[in-house]
Amino acid sequence: MTTQTTVIIGANSQIAKALAKQVIGYPDSQLIVVSRNIDFYQSDEFSQAMLIQVNNYQESEIDMAVERIKQANALQIHQVFICHGVLHNDHCQPEKRLEDFSAEAFTEILTANTITPMLWLKALVPLLTGKHPCKVVVFSARVGSIADNRIGGWYSYRASKAAMNMLLKSAAVELERRAKNIKLISFHPGTTDTPLSKPFQRSVPDGKLFTSAFVAQRLLQIVADTTVDGAASFVDWQGQDIPW
Ligand SMILES: NC(=O)c1ccc[n+]([C@@H]2O[C@H](COP(=O)([O-])OP(=O)(O)OC[C@H]3O[C@@H](n4cnc5c(N)ncnc54)[C@H](OP(=O)(O)O)[C@@H]3O)[C@@H](O)[C@H]2O)c1
Repeated sequence: MTTQTTVIIGANSQIAKALAKQVIGYPDSQLIVVSRNIDFYQSDEFSQAMLIQVNNYQESEIDMAVERIKQANALQIHQVFICHGVLHNDHCQPEKRLEDFSAEAFTEILTANTITPMLWLKALVPLLTGKHPCKVVVFSARVGSIADNRIGGWYSYRASKAAMNMLLKSAAVELERRAKNIKLISFHPGTTDTPLSKPFQRSVPDGKLFTSAFVAQRLLQIVADTTVDGAASFVDWQGQDIPW
């Protein structure tokens, strides 16, 4: 019998795929993945998973996906991973200096990294509210820490993650009143070997570039060990608190 459900959103992320590969092996559990590209999941390994493909991450698409999750009568969603993150793409690079800042690029990064996860949270909370503990992980980054910012640069990416953190802090205050079973976790995976970090891996010290499988295993353990306490947490792959 299925007793617990994991939802992975932005499931074509490299770290998301590693999470899915580990979760699919859990006994008595259901996996739901949501992405614009679900090719990776079209295999026997994921034949029991529910695959939801979205065209984009506009609010109407998000609402439709959440409605499909609701219709599926998913039992006890106990963990949700929201994995969106854009650092660079074919027309945006992280800024090295003020002159690199562009309104268009900032808007694009902010939409992907901040507004999209927040729209998921907004749409999912009614479905997650109840008696059973549910942990919602939003992928952040240490560079989103305002207190820890000593190097500067990467204006848009940093600001998008810092803004996400602030939204999570505020949401936790509200959920403490109206959905006490939900715990919000802002997670820094550490530098992980994925398309996002590829162009920046040369400067990573030996032993500090993690595999997605390692990060996924750490994250699942951290989520299992975390208690629902009415506050948002900002933690790294070791489970250590990061200053906001
Ligand atoms: N890799 C690292 O070293 C590192 C370090 C610190 C933090 N992080 C964070 O960890 C998370 C996962 O990163 P990853 O390394 O696994 O990245 P990745 O493999 O490059 O995956 C990219 C993710 O971003 C989503 N995405 C791409 N363009 C988007 C857009 N325009 N709008 C909304 N979503 C979009 C993708 O969704 P689809 O599934 O729909 O394609 C996918 O979930 C991100 O939040 C990232 O910021 C990564």
